[in-house]
Amino acid sequence: MAAQINPSILSADFARLAEEARAVEGADWLHVDVMDNHFVPNLTLGVPVVESLRKATDIPLDCHLMIEDPDRWAPQYAEAGAGSVTFHAEAAAAPVRLAREIRAKGARASMALKPATPIEPFEDLLPELDMLLIMTVEPGFGGQAFLDIMLPKIRRTRELISRHNLQLWLQVDGGVSAATIERCAEAGADVFVAGSAVYGTDDPAAAVRSLRAQAEETMARAPWACAH
Ligand code: DX5
Ligand code: ZN
Repeated sequence: MAAQINPSILSADFARLAEEARAVEGADWLHVDVMDNHFVPNLTLGVPVVESLRKATDIPLDCHLMIEDPDRWAPQYAEAGAGSVTFHAEAAAAPVRLAREIRAKGARASMALKPATPIEPFEDLLPELDMLLIMTVEPGFGGQAFLDIMLPKIRRTRELISRHNLQLWLQVDGGVSAATIERCAEAGADVFVAGSAVYGTDDPAAAVRSLRAQAEETMARAPWACAH
């Protein structure tokens, strides 16, 4: 699969979201960080903004829910038109039921792991998901430093995907930039969220193209990708 670059609007200007979406034309997905000030110590946006954003751009929305009780709230994001809905493993009471509900509402179902959450307990659950998100910072804020100690987890997850022959996308989120994207791609990631590395530049669309080129060049040489 080709590398996908998902700019995170957390680093965009929230008063100009439609324009900011246009500024990353060519991006694969628009990453929308939903925070409830309980699961993480920050507050962003909710369903009404997702509904409006969906009308303002043709780029599909990748909603990352950093919220308590996703079992209750996540399906509403699929109904609001998100193409992909990610809930956190640490917050979901019934992740299999929730993933099935998200898929039934027409969105891709995805689950996220905070840095201290291991992948191994979720091995049997992976066929229920379309994407697995490995956080490479503690969730809550943009602009944090990439956690290199997450690379072994990315590697182990890629091994599980290969071993079970799954069509699962592997996303990384947090501190992904020109300096770190190659390490992520080499370890096995194929979907890359980038906030400050895209919106912190003068030309966000060019940053997306350049990150994608870097990731694809690394993937072309990575043993895990060659086997596919
Ligand atoms: C952090 C969010 C990220 C954030 C990434 O909790 O989930 O999506 O926007 O921002 P950068 O790329 O600046 O680390
Ligand atoms: Zn995110």
